[in-house]
Amino acid sequence: MAHHDEAGIGDFVLLDQINIDSFMENLQVRFNAGKIYTYIGEVCVSVNPYRTMNIYGSDVVNQYKGREIFERPPHIFAIADAAYKAMKRRGQDTCIVISGESGSGKTEASKIIMRYIAAVTNVSQQAEIDRVKSVLIQSNSILEAFGNAKTNRNDNSSRFGKYMDINFDFKHDPVGGHISNYLLEKSRVVLQQPGERNFHAFYQLLYGAPDAELTKLKLVRDAAQYYYTRQGGNTRVDSISDRQDYKSVNSALRLLGFGAEKTECIWKIIAAVLNLGNVEFDDNADATSVKTPERLQAVGALLSVTPAELGKTLCQRVIAAGGEVMEKGHTGVQATYGRDAFAKAIYERLFTWIIQEVNTAIEVKEESKRYRTKNTVIGVLDIYGFEIFNNNSFEQFCINYCNEKLQQLFIELVLRQEQEEYRKEGIEWTNIEYFNNQIICDLVEQPHKGMIAIMDEACLNVGRITDQMLLEAMDKKLANHQHYSSRRLNPMDKELKHGEEFRIRHYAGDVSYNVTGFLDKNKDMLYQDFKRLLYSSQNETLKSMWPEGAQHISKTTKRPLTAGTLFKNSMISLITNLASKQPHYVRCIKPNEEKSPVLFDRERVRHQVNYLGLIENVRVRRAGFAYRQSYDRFLRRYKMISQFTWPNFHGDSDKEGVKILIKEQNFVDDVKYGKTKIFLRSPQTLFALEQARGRLIPHIVIFLQKMWRGALCRMRYRKMMAARTILHAFRRYKMRDYITQLNTLFRNVKRSSDFGRSVRWPPAPLVCRGAVGSLRAIHRRWWALMVLSRIPADERPQMRLKVTTADALQGRRPEWGAGRRWEGNYLASVQENANTAGYVQTVSHLRSKDKFQKIMFSGLVRKFNRNNKMAERAIIVTDTSIYKLDSNKFKCLTSHAIADVTGVSVSPRSDQLVVLHLRGGNDLVVALLSNKAEDRVGELVGVVCRQYSASQKRDLRVLVTDNVQCMLGNKSRTIGVEIMQDAQHASFRKGPTKEAIVLVWPPHLSPPPPSITNGLKTNGNGRIH
Ligand SMILES: Nc1ncnc2c1ncn2[C@@H]1O[C@H](COP(=O)(O)OP(=O)(O)O)[C@@H](O)[C@H]1O
Ligand SMILES: [Mg+2]
Repeated sequence: MAHHDEAGIGDFVLLDQINIDSFMENLQVRFNAGKIYTYIGEVCVSVNPYRTMNIYGSDVVNQYKGREIFERPPHIFAIADAAYKAMKRRGQDTCIVISGESGSGKTEASKIIMRYIAAVTNVSQQAEIDRVKSVLIQSNSILEAFGNAKTNRNDNSSRFGKYMDINFDFKHDPVGGHISNYLLEKSRVVLQQPGERNFHAFYQLLYGAPDAELTKLKLVRDAAQYYYTRQGGNTRVDSISDRQDYKSVNSALRLLGFGAEKTECIWKIIAAVLNLGNVEFDDNADATSVKTPERLQAVGALLSVTPAELGKTLCQRVIAAGGEVMEKGHTGVQATYGRDAFAKAIYERLFTWIIQEVNTAIEVKEESKRYRTKNTVIGVLDIYGFEIFNNNSFEQFCINYCNEKLQQLFIELVLRQEQEEYRKEGIEWTNIEYFNNQIICDLVEQPHKGMIAIMDEACLNVGRITDQMLLEAMDKKLANHQHYSSRRLNPMDKELKHGEEFRIRHYAGDVSYNVTGFLDKNKDMLYQDFKRLLYSSQNETLKSMWPEGAQHISKTTKRPLTAGTLFKNSMISLITNLASKQPHYVRCIKPNEEKSPVLFDRERVRHQVNYLGLIENVRVRRAGFAYRQSYDRFLRRYKMISQFTWPNFHGDSDKEGVKILIKEQNFVDDVKYGKTKIFLRSPQTLFALEQARGRLIPHIVIFLQKMWRGALCRMRYRKMMAARTILHAFRRYKMRDYITQLNTLFRNVKRSSDFGRSVRWPPAPLVCRGAVGSLRAIHRRWWALMVLSRIPADERPQMRLKVTTADALQGRRPEWGAGRRWEGNYLASVQENANTAGYVQTVSHLRSKDKFQKIMFSGLVRKFNRNNKMAERAIIVTDTSIYKLDSNKFKCLTSHAIADVTGVSVSPRSDQLVVLHLRGGNDLVVALLSNKAEDRVGELVGVVCRQYSASQKRDLRVLVTDNVQCMLGNKSRTIGVEIMQDAQHASFRKGPTKEAIVLVWPPHLSPPPPSITNGLKTNGNGRIH
């Protein structure tokens, strides 16, 4: 539709004025803008771009796939898709008729259509369907190699008509196909016009085959050496790579399953034809003979017949007359004629056979028929276009007749369809003037009176009849026909050669035909001898191409149908076939003769537009109405224009909605309402509707975007909320589950001996990780409470002290008297101290002097001083000070404030060494003595630490080490402990070095190994709370 395109108008039907000038103008504007496709309704007009267009990729395929024709800019894909859709939707057979003159792009169009159909049916990925599609596509290169040639109009001109059916199964997948060929221009095998070439295959073989292959085929790599390939002059074509094509053809042959033997046979036949062209004859007085025996040898070898037989067949023929068989020698001219006829026949048979083989490869397999559903078909017709040469012969006559038939079909179908539609829709039909070419078809094909009938009659004639006589007969019988003339009938017409030429006024233009050769070509005779010869070939493949050679010579055969009649019959059946399908048209136009991508030859194009009847096509299509559309589609496209129909029309029918819409827009006078479709008279109305729609579309798009974005967000939000709820529930569930587990595990711990200390906590789910720490702490506190509650209240202070010790030692000293009751003031006990009275006296004296509260620890010690002297002493630790006294009378010797203590060092073993580090460079180095072999180190450490931290508000440093460092007389000393079994007392002595001091410790003074009491034991660094 017009609005898709920035250049010109996409559908000629929508032109303001319908005349040749505006048509041409639009076509040219679009061609210059690179828009090669334009519609006339559903007919696609295609102008050959003569350059590679980037418009056939898979991205473009996707744009057209399943779309309606009017939805996208004009493209041949839309026609292919329309045909495929019509077949899919209505199960109808469809066909695409591609017409236009030679070089206008028909064959390219047919290939584009095939590829499109292959691409859009690419869903199932089934091997068989893929195979069928690739065979259909690959077959092109084979058909083109053997059926196409360079002509003066087209480097790759199809010299045969091709109609290809693609079969689809009930799923609309391609399952097979069939190719029909029409009238191969076989005269080209032996005769080429200047500038033209023989069929591509000859050159492909000569320029593409490896040397060894050529030698085997008795050829040399030079087309100029062969009569059949050199007549046109130049044997090379710039746009063609024969070498490359030879490879592609061979690989296509392989893909189609031709096999080595058949492929070899094909190239042998081509080589045989090339060699045959160079066979020459000696025209002696009495008998004709072959002048070039080595060629004869070669041809014989290639065709697997004996050279003798071959020579005989070329130079003479056998005739059966009256039951007798005789041999009759040819003249030189006859022999040459026979040779050429032979070459043509071999080649034509080969071509037909190749197509048969291709068909075998793609025919619908039985298994896809098994569902018994109707197979549908899309036919693609790519047939020679109208031809006018300088010298037009029988072939042009047939080709142009074919084009007349197709034009007739086009007129019939387009008109009939249009009329049908108006009738169906109940709309009045206005008659359109157009040229009906039926009269020309009749001129050619009418029984008894038509030109083909006249030619056949001439051929039937037994006497010697010449082409001139044929012309006379036609002149006589067709004298009054408006579309036939000759010099005899129109002596003033100097352009026609007397006695040689006649003219037909074709719908596409006047064409003069030279009658010379007509009879021969119509008779299309090949002596029986050749058929028998080839049937006798040792090459089975070749032999199978010539089954009629089996017939015995004496058997009289029915006269075969003439070439003209055969062609006429095939055309009639082709047209019948096409007419039974729903047709789609591609009308190809050639923009210039120079194969130029930029030239738009107005005269040439105007001529084609005229004879293709495109203007009439537009007129007929419009027939008063430029546009029609079914109500539902129309409403769907334009409903946004009216508030009554947007967003949805809620009336009874689409038709009613359309009526309301049209009324609102004031187009009532310009439309007609059919039964299922609305018809718009002028294109302006459609433009106005399109414009109104175009104005609204952005708003609708924004509106849709808005709504959709909102919807998306709401959806996302709802999902998030749902996820949150689920998350919550799940977390609660996990938590509950965990708590329940704990509940079960800890249910009876109160009654267990360790209050659940040994219960293993199950791994906590993520959600409880944080809480589980607190829970454990709670449990520990409770557990401690339970443990502590067993301890009587008066033991609690001692308990606390032990905890202080445990904290200070941090598990570094295994035995520290934890299990023992700590008495503290040991010197007050008579078991420890004989002189308690003296002690008490000293204490009360000190108390009154120093005002301390309480004695925390007292006991006897062995002390070591800076003079390396050892002495018995007593120490007292009060809440504020440490006293050192003599051990007999308890005279106070020194005192230190607790604040002066800088640390405590003890050994990790069970000896009773304690060093109280003091400010002033003189530490107190002692070994605690007791009369019970009990550990008092822990108790002393605990007391000092507690008092220290109580007054200093920080912890005292406690070192536990094997080599206790100390300062004596401002000198650093190291004390090692030596356990000595036979020692009686603990005693200090000087060590081996000056710094060393040794404490000799008898093991019997150490307490027994520690035992667990009251559970009061730390695990190293675990504090007891
Ligand atoms: N759609 C196209 N894109 C590009 N080149 C094209 C196209 N159609 C035709 N041609 C060119 O024109 C030449 C002749 O086209 P072809 O289809 O063989 O003509 P026809 O079959 O009508 O005689 C092609 O070889 C090709 O170079
Ligand atoms: Mg072609």
